[in-house]
Amino acid sequence: MSMLIINIKELLQVRNQNIFKVSGAEMKHLPTLKNAFLLIEDDKIVDYGTMDKCIHNQAKTIIDATNKLVLPAWCDSHSHIVYAGNREQEFVDRINGLSYTEIANRGGGILNSANTLQNTSEEELYQQSIKRVKQVMKLGTGALEIKSGYGLTVASELKMLRVIRRIKDNYPIKVKATFLGAHAFPNEYINNKKGYIDVIINEMLPKIANENLADYIDVFCEKGYFSLADTEAILSAGKQYGLIPKIHVNQFNAFGGVALGVKHKALSVDHLEELNQEDIDALKGSETMPVALPSCSFFLSIPYTPARQIMDSGLPLALATDYNPGSTPSGNMNFVVSTACIKMKMTPEEAINAATLNGAYAMGISDNYGSITKGKKANVIITNPIPSYNYLPYSFGENNIETVIINGTIIK
Ligand code: NIG
Ligand code: FE
Repeated sequence: MSMLIINIKELLQVRNQNIFKVSGAEMKHLPTLKNAFLLIEDDKIVDYGTMDKCIHNQAKTIIDATNKLVLPAWCDSHSHIVYAGNREQEFVDRINGLSYTEIANRGGGILNSANTLQNTSEEELYQQSIKRVKQVMKLGTGALEIKSGYGLTVASELKMLRVIRRIKDNYPIKVKATFLGAHAFPNEYINNKKGYIDVIINEMLPKIANENLADYIDVFCEKGYFSLADTEAILSAGKQYGLIPKIHVNQFNAFGGVALGVKHKALSVDHLEELNQEDIDALKGSETMPVALPSCSFFLSIPYTPARQIMDSGLPLALATDYNPGSTPSGNMNFVVSTACIKMKMTPEEAINAATLNGAYAMGISDNYGSITKGKKANVIITNPIPSYNYLPYSFGENNIETVIINGTIIK
């Protein structure tokens, strides 16, 4: 199956060399080709260039992209898209003055979602989740990391991870799975935290590894959740099973979680709304990707990750949604890119780099995703006719996507 896209007004994120991430000042540069073509064979990008060099005139499908832009599909490296039910009552409670932490402390929050998920069948959980997966594919997401963490029992964590496996097997979107048993302490362990950590390490991890259900391991390292010592114990245990860390840190408090992640060679450290100079210094010279989740800041009205400080220190940055029922009930990467520009003062070039190539890096797939490079997977967005790529973040809330191609297939 071949597909030829011609007369592309501008082809974005063209990387002849297969680089794996962009950092610091490099992020200001978004390489593009004007008046371009793109040739796809089966699931791969096989050729691209300017129209005057287009020697191809035959393909099963020819798409004329006059006045339209083409860019790599978004790579969303942080989501909790598999969940049961919703938490719109907590949303109203927050409008009426309660904080996210106050709601969690009275049994809402993560434990509320865990309770609902424990009482939802695997089939029903799958049906609820694929509705969201189909929606984000239409919004241009071609690769998605999905976490467990609303199970909090052996059976329900396995249920979540099996649903993630089923999504991976049944949809063209690239999926990476992360085990987040350490998302919150279940009520019955509130006075026996060590007991729950033992369940994670000695019961959940061996079963998950045995069924090969996860690529990564995550911990919510935060005051009132998992301490530095808890995080260290869980990451070390995960390593025994080959699970690489990708952790939640510095959402509400900065107390050394970033340095701990770097020490454990975390692929990414995510959230970072509260970030200090020690955290920045810890990241320097490391291979760990900082990940910002601006829709979470927007929804909870908490500070935005200091993107300028991160990038101006020479570090890379990725952008992801954090799609979940509590802090971010949205999986729209277009909104993430807009919000990053509007609220975090990222330039459109920086935001697009952060949501494509660096997002792919933060989920360990940038050898095959995140840029227009020969041999990479054919995951691309074709926009509606728009004046320039600056228009994408500028026109926030507008859907500028005409066609999404994932794994070489047009998403209907
Ligand atoms: O990434 N911070 C921890 N976990 C999620 C939110 C969980 C929830 O409220 O359900 C997050 O924001
Ligand atoms: Fe999260």
